[in-house]
Amino acid sequence: MPNAVITGTGGYVPPRVVTNDDLVQQYGIDTSHEWIHRRTGINERRFADEGVGSAEMGEKAARLALEAAGLEPQDLDMILFATLSPEFCFPGSGVLLQERLGLCEGPRARFVPAMDIRNQCSGFLYGLGTATSMVQSGACRHVLLVGGETHSAALDLTTRGRTVSSLFGDGAGAVVVSASDEDRGIRGWWLGADGRYAEVLCQKVWDIRRRPFIPQNEEGVGQVEPDMMWAHMEGKRVFRAAVERMCEAVLTACTAQGITGDDVDLWLFHQANMRINQYVANTLGIPDDKLLHNIDRYGNTTAATIPLLLDEAVRSGRLQPGMKVAMVAFGSGFTWGSAILDW
Ligand code: UT7
Repeated sequence: MPNAVITGTGGYVPPRVVTNDDLVQQYGIDTSHEWIHRRTGINERRFADEGVGSAEMGEKAARLALEAAGLEPQDLDMILFATLSPEFCFPGSGVLLQERLGLCEGPRARFVPAMDIRNQCSGFLYGLGTATSMVQSGACRHVLLVGGETHSAALDLTTRGRTVSSLFGDGAGAVVVSASDEDRGIRGWWLGADGRYAEVLCQKVWDIRRRPFIPQNEEGVGQVEPDMMWAHMEGKRVFRAAVERMCEAVLTACTAQGITGDDVDLWLFHQANMRINQYVANTLGIPDDKLLHNIDRYGNTTAATIPLLLDEAVRSGRLQPGMKVAMVAFGSGFTWGSAILDW
């Protein structure tokens, strides 16, 4: 069985910076830099311009990851796209990305499978588990995995929505997972879910059990009430569950690998709230200098947080060959996951 190795990483965030003060001044939200920074660690986030979606940002990250891996899009055997903010209800962002990468035209067209992953903040790790299995089974040599989100279009940027809208930002991260004979790579992945809490953090937009799924007015125009349109989150319940499940996911991974937390050189935690990550790190005795953050600059980019962190660690030289890396995430579903890699 070949090993599954991350051979390239890439990241992209849109240029427009929106600070906490901008939420007050530009959007008129009754909040403050002090509140947001103290409760979450966020200073600013990026918002994409109108017209830009997850596949476009994903393409930018993917091209950087392919370049780092020394590959062309035509070398790919599969595309996985983790997102909760696809362009459309269907089809998913994966096929849009395939077309953007030029895989659908000309003599070198490659109609590789393109699959969307719907696991929110755990989407990247669900994707990593899938990519690893595809490579280790021999079905694929090179899998492109993108986590990309366009939150800014679907945030209630008013005081009513401030608890959720002050947390999220746009961006994309990508990795190429390749088959290798080298004794390194993704050593294991562990995923979990608890569907009892599906509605504790959700954005419904419609309910397919209704007839029709979106109520219409007399002119036949769909009407979406605010409760359905915007994300709903019971923040404190999510916070508590995140700390518990992330600790558990780390311990499961370390036990399965026969290692302790001290053996890990670099920790990449999902970036939902700096305080969640500090609780987890304190509980597990993880020192600050082994834990990376980007929530201060990007907010919560959901499926993009871990690949963006990983790309920053690679490009800054913080991550060196031979290091042991642990990743852990928790989010809507509830879903969670962890992975251990030898870089
Ligand atoms: O990645 C997916 C998973 N998501 C998460 O992991 C998020 C987990 N939850 C959290 O991070 C925290 O629960 C939040 C940061 C979302 C909220 O922090 P909290 O300490 O749980 O605050 P709260 O929701 O209990 O709200 C406390 C107060 C409320 O006012 P009252 O009712 O006490 O008067 C809120 O209306 O803070 C108010 N508030 C705000 N005030 C200023 C909520 N959001 C804001 C805001 N600015 N942006």
